[in-house]
Formats: sequence, structure tokens, C-alpha cells
Amino acid sequence: MRAAYFPLETFIYGISYAWLKYLIRSPEPLDPNYAWDAVTRDSPPVLDWFRLNWPIKPMRPLVIAAKMRQDHALGIHAHYDVSNEFYKLFLDKRYMFYTCADFHHPDETIEEAQQHKADFILNLIDPKPGQKILELGCGWGAMLKRIEEATGTKENLYGLTLSQEQVDFNDQHNHYNVEYADFITRAYPQGQYDCIYSIGAWEHVRTREIPQLLDKLFAALKPGGRLVQHFFCRVNDDIFAPAACAQIYFPGSMGSSYRFHAKAWEDAGFRITHRSVHDYRLTLRAWFDNLAANRERALEIVDVATFNRYMTFFPASWRYFNDNMGMVTRWVLEKTA
Ligand SMILES: C[S@@+](CC[C@H](N)C(=O)[O-])C[C@H]1O[C@@H](n2cnc3c(N)ncnc32)[C@H](O)[C@@H]1O
Repeated sequence: MRAAYFPLETFIYGISYAWLKYLIRSPEPLDPNYAWDAVTRDSPPVLDWFRLNWPIKPMRPLVIAAKMRQDHALGIHAHYDVSNEFYKLFLDKRYMFYTCADFHHPDETIEEAQQHKADFILNLIDPKPGQKILELGCGWGAMLKRIEEATGTKENLYGLTLSQEQVDFNDQHNHYNVEYADFITRAYPQGQYDCIYSIGAWEHVRTREIPQLLDKLFAALKPGGRLVQHFFCRVNDDIFAPAACAQIYFPGSMGSSYRFHAKAWEDAGFRITHRSVHDYRLTLRAWFDNLAANRERALEIVDVATFNRYMTFFPASWRYFNDNMGMVTRWVLEKTA
């Protein structure tokens, strides 16, 4: 049965998508060494050509349009509401960041690298005690925690997420003002926030939703306030295979290109005062190694298909960055007074 899907999915979505789905459908938990190699090894040139050129260009918008009919909130639920215990098996222990860390050296631990990232972004946010700060897509509250450590206040810190498990985690452990809400469609009070930021959530916002959302965020900031963004984007607009594969892991989400974002900030009225590019690969490898090391416990928490999904997600993402199809970017966007 598993083999029957392969040609069909290759025809519709391309061979990368079909191969990842074939691996995920393995009835056995994937062996880590096999999984990493099966996803990241170089293909022979003919296969590589096919990987990048099939489906043909006229088919691509139809494929993506069909996938974009999937409900955004359900897609977020599918990825993030797996189990908090499962995520604890591979994320850093102190903060539980589920976003690219800053490895200053390849032999650093994920804990050290996430601390560097938290400090880097803290510097971009530059929070002062009592300032009203909102995180879009706050995950398990990692960056809110870092801001609280720096300022000593928490009642002014707000977060939004579409994961009920993350809301429950916040209610049990952190007690920030975290709300289950869609940051794309919700309304914001005008001129209220000193800073709005997101780390690894802007990838979920579809291109056509960005201009209107930026207008709302611009209006929600106080004069002189800032929008701080950390997310990954496509290097250019004409990349199909990763966009199709992303639907396996984030159904209904669709990122945009670097060029699109750079223009969108300025069209919304922001002044770009910082931009930098970061390397996701060591973080992905660290999460993969942690999950592999905790394989037995993971399989007590989730089913084989879910375990296999993550065993392919990390190497597939690694390859996306290694092939220079996507890049992690950070931006500070000021609403000049
Ligand atoms: C990759 S996680 C990053 C979490 C956290 N910022 C971190 O650095 O660990 C993405 C987060 O964005 C949230 N998210 C994605 N789309 C959302 C939306 N439309 N509204 C609210 N939250 C959203 C998810 O629920 C999740 O918490």
C-alpha cells in the first residue's frame, strides 16, 4: 500500500514530497542513521533535475492552492499539539525554544546555543520594566521568560498561540498573559504596545495575509515602538519542492520570499534598523540527535507515524537550508515617532 502512494504523490507533489511520505509511512520507527542519510544525501543528477522540475510550473499553483484550502488553525494544532512531554525530549531544557539557536561553536550544547539566541533577541527587543510587550506565536513561553529574567516584570508580557497544549503549559508553569488566538485574524488595540515580536511564527503567515496584518501591527504599536521578527523565508520566489514538502509538517502554512518581506515592512511604514541572517543547521541536528537518543521514550508518547514525521522533518529542514533554498532572518522594524 505504502509503495502504491509513491508514484501517485510523485506525480502530484514531486519526488521529494513522495519520498518523505514514503519514509513516514514506514510501519517501523525509522532508524536515525538511515533517516538522516535517506533525506540529506545528494541525489544523482537526473533525479536532482526531476526533483527540482517536476511538477511542471503550470501545475504548481493548482497544487499549492489545493493545500492552502486546509484550515490554518488545524495545521498548527497538528504540528504543536503532539504532546508537551514529546517536545521536552529534544528541546533545550531551560527555555524550550522551538526555533533556530545561535551556535557560536559547533560543539556547544543546544542549551548554550539557545541562551545565545535569547540574549541576541533580547538585545533587539531592548525591553524596559513595565513596557507592554506582545509575542505572536509564543510557543512554550521561552522568550517571554528571557524578558522576565531581564526586566523582573511579567504582568505586562502577552503571548498568542494556536496550540492549546502550549496554553495549558503556560497556565501550569509560566503564568504570562497567554491567550489562545489567531494573531493573523484577531483585532489589536491601537497604539498600545512598546514592542511586538515573533520568533518562528511569521513562516506560518501566507503572502496575501501579510500586508493587512502589518497594517494592524503598525497601528497597535506606540509611536517609537518596534516590531522584532525572527523567521525563515525562501531565498527567492521560484522554489516549489520545499513549499510542497512543508505541507507535510505544517499543513496550510506558506512562507514568502526574502524580497517580499523586505518590501512589505517598508510598504507598511516601518524603518528597518537591523537585519541579520542565521544558520539553522546545527539546531536541527541537535534536535534530531536528542530525539534519536530518546527514541524509546518518544515511542511511549507518540505513535510510529508521528515519530517518523519528526525523524524526517529535521533532516528535510536541514537540507532546505544546506541547499540555500531558505534562510533564517532577524529584523528590527521601527515605527518612527
Ligand atoms: C515554531 S513555534 C515558535 C514558538 C516560540 N516563539 C519559540 O521561539 O520557541 C511557532 C508558534 O507560532 C504559533 N502560531 C503559528 N501561527 C499562529 C497564528 N496564526 N496565531 C497564533 N499563533 C500562531 C504556534 O502556535 C507556535 O506557538
